Amino acid sequence: MKQVTVSAPGKLMFMGEHAVVYGEPCIVTTVGDRLLVTAEIIAGEKLQVEAPQVKDTRFVDEAVKLFYAKKGMKNGVRLSTRSGFSGKYGFGSSSAVTVATLKALSLLFDVPTSDRDLFEMAYQVVLKVQQEGSGFDVAAAIYGGTLWFKRGGELIEPLENSTVRELPLTVGYTGVKSNSAELVKRVAALRERYPAKVDRTMRAIRALVTQTKPHLLRGNWQMVGSFMDQNQEHLRQLHVSSTTLERLINAAKSAGAYGAKLSGAGSGDCMIALVPSERREDIEIAITQAGGEVVRVATHTQGVRQET
Ligand code: MEV
Repeated sequence: MKQVTVSAPGKLMFMGEHAVVYGEPCIVTTVGDRLLVTAEIIAGEKLQVEAPQVKDTRFVDEAVKLFYAKKGMKNGVRLSTRSGFSGKYGFGSSSAVTVATLKALSLLFDVPTSDRDLFEMAYQVVLKVQQEGSGFDVAAAIYGGTLWFKRGGELIEPLENSTVRELPLTVGYTGVKSNSAELVKRVAALRERYPAKVDRTMRAIRALVTQTKPHLLRGNWQMVGSFMDQNQEHLRQLHVSSTTLERLINAAKSAGAYGAKLSGAGSGDCMIALVPSERREDIEIAITQAGGEVVRVATHTQGVRQET
């Protein structure tokens, strides 16, 4: 029976989290570790899913349901997943598995699907399952590289040159799982109480992310680091940082990082630091001594692709 394997990368939010939910731009990069989905036609009309490392198989189930409804499919299909990264880091395994499932189905059944179609379908699935989200993680899984992104895919612009390809990042995992949907709701509640203040913060984040873009493309790391620090200050004001994140961020900064901030929804998961190469080792030691786990990942990697 015909079988295809597709892989999609995980992501790291570089700058602009939370504000992106309110229509502001963000910058997201992809990580080298990939999530794989193998799809195979089987007899009958059944769906079999083997996804031991995916914490919520609703993403796979809903992706199949949507694809079948849209494309008028009926065949039985077996889907199995393997992940090159642990779901614990917050690298976006849910969006990666959704994207890889839809791409695998389109190849298995020879249904041409553009990246844009894939984005629309995958974003619909993610919203159905978790209600919240800008879709930045879905875009990262599809397009790969490093993206300038606006909610719902209003803008998906690849940031591409030799400098962005070599983003000098160090990633530190807090050991604490973060709940993105819950944190998005928490920020929404804060905004309801203090609309003017929160809107001011969102606009300030937009200004920082916008100012970062040209410096990022020029590899002006000192400036980019300073914008990251300022972004972190605004995230503190949104109450999405945590003492563990602050400890790792301070450790990285004291050891010589250009800048450091939380990455993603906050309150746990990972922090990122922009590091001079000669300080990388010291910064990794500092993060470890502060209780973090250094996660070595390549960034700016290829989007969804067929493996076999
Ligand atoms: C979560 O990783 C990033 C948020 O901006 C939510 C989203 O954009 O979907 C908090």
